[in-house]
Amino acid sequence: MGTSLLQKYNVPGPRYTSYPTVPYWDEALFTADQWKAAVQQSFRESNRSEGISLYIHLPFCESLCTFCGCNKRITKNHTVESPYIAAVLHEWLLYCAMFDDRPQIKEIHLGGGTPTFFSVKELEKLITGLFQTADLAANFDFSFEGHPNNTTRAHLQKLYDLGFRRVSFGVQDYADKVQEAIHRIQPFHNVAKVTFWAREIGYTSIGHDLIFGLPFQVLEDVIDTIEKTKSLAPDRLAFYSYAHVPWIKGNGQRGFKDQDVPKDEVKRQLYEVGKELLYENGYCEIGMDHFALKTDSLYKAFQNKKLHRNFMGYSHSKTQLMIGLGVSSISDSWYSFAQNVKTIEAYYLALNNNKLPVLRGHQLTEEDLIIRKHILNLMCQFETSWSENQMYFSEIPEVINQLKEMEHDGFVEFVKQGIQVTEKGKPFVRNICMAFDLRLKRKAPETELFSMTI
Ligand SMILES: C[S@@+](CC[C@H](N)C(=O)[O-])C[C@H]1O[C@@H](n2cnc3c(N)ncnc32)[C@H](O)[C@@H]1O
Ligand code: SF4
Repeated sequence: MGTSLLQKYNVPGPRYTSYPTVPYWDEALFTADQWKAAVQQSFRESNRSEGISLYIHLPFCESLCTFCGCNKRITKNHTVESPYIAAVLHEWLLYCAMFDDRPQIKEIHLGGGTPTFFSVKELEKLITGLFQTADLAANFDFSFEGHPNNTTRAHLQKLYDLGFRRVSFGVQDYADKVQEAIHRIQPFHNVAKVTFWAREIGYTSIGHDLIFGLPFQVLEDVIDTIEKTKSLAPDRLAFYSYAHVPWIKGNGQRGFKDQDVPKDEVKRQLYEVGKELLYENGYCEIGMDHFALKTDSLYKAFQNKKLHRNFMGYSHSKTQLMIGLGVSSISDSWYSFAQNVKTIEAYYLALNNNKLPVLRGHQLTEEDLIIRKHILNLMCQFETSWSENQMYFSEIPEVINQLKEMEHDGFVEFVKQGIQVTEKGKPFVRNICMAFDLRLKRKAPETELFSMTI
């Protein structure tokens, strides 16, 4: 691809785990009562038919990886575990008190931070605690993120016994110099060991997270990392673009300099070569940054146009209500979003006062709901259409003109009142979504908010 096209499209842009994106939420119009009403409405509409999802944020890590953009608290003190689990269960009970029926839990995702920072006993307390006031929905799907350096066989076995069948391990890159720069020393045999255990125990989907664009990473590192990955044959792979966001406070992106981070064409080449290698090894691109073997449920959902994307990432089924428990978690009631407070202290304070620890939120307008549908279609199916009346985009010249320009650049093709993303356009799906993002168009961010799209 030509340098000028890369330069043209390499702009700061959201990753669209939600629409509107968090910085564009209308916080002034959001109230706790309204959130409660939206949760209750969504619960009534969907609990019996499809169940609800829970995302649980477990924020602690023993050691700071300096590339990391997640909300985490670094500590080696494991006495933090028990009060945190008690607080999460308290928050869950506050939600249960709003429901007029027993919740049917369809999905649980344990994210972080590092869920495997917690002992087997505390994780068991968490999951069994949730089910004291809930039942399992049909075809439930439980998953967690494991750190290869501290996931034990006992973690994998206990979570399996509790119903977990999917696990993803953070790998990032195997090169020593990259691991040193990001302060994450994690030898191949650690990843091999946990992958092997998970498979032996019976997990049906094992994922590895890889990143391109890390400091000091060169093409040979990406090739070597994918070769090693191939030998372990994970069912799915995240191949993330490194999000360099050092301006976010408390993020800890340090220990390397800006110029150590591959950019523009150099970074794009890491992706292009990596993607080719993944294709050669039987992995199919199923959405932004995500690849899966044809036997994995995520690939099947992509094929059947059933793939869904939310704050947990991609999933093979959709639930209307997703409740985020734990510090900084985001909930989605379809009609509204809400995010929890970001510090553990503020989280405990709210719960001690028997209040939901919600920091801010947004109630979606009619227009937001339409745009969100287009963005979900693009992110999950690489296509969208406005053939139905309520998907009104043909009248918005700004959007259509921008899409026409993208058609000229070879990223999309116009088909019956809609567009399809081309193979060339897939890595630019964030840019294509941005064409629909009327909130971003109306008000450009005043400060740096988003990572670069390439
Ligand atoms: C919560 S972490 C994974 C679980 C566990 N803490 C670990 O490190 O293995 C989730 C994933 O987010 C990805 N991630 C974190 N920071 C990122 C960044 N700045 N850019 C791109 N991906 C990032 C990494 O691939 C990481 O494995
Ligand atoms: S990558 Fe994982 S272990 Fe490292 S700081 Fe981030 S959340 Fe913690």
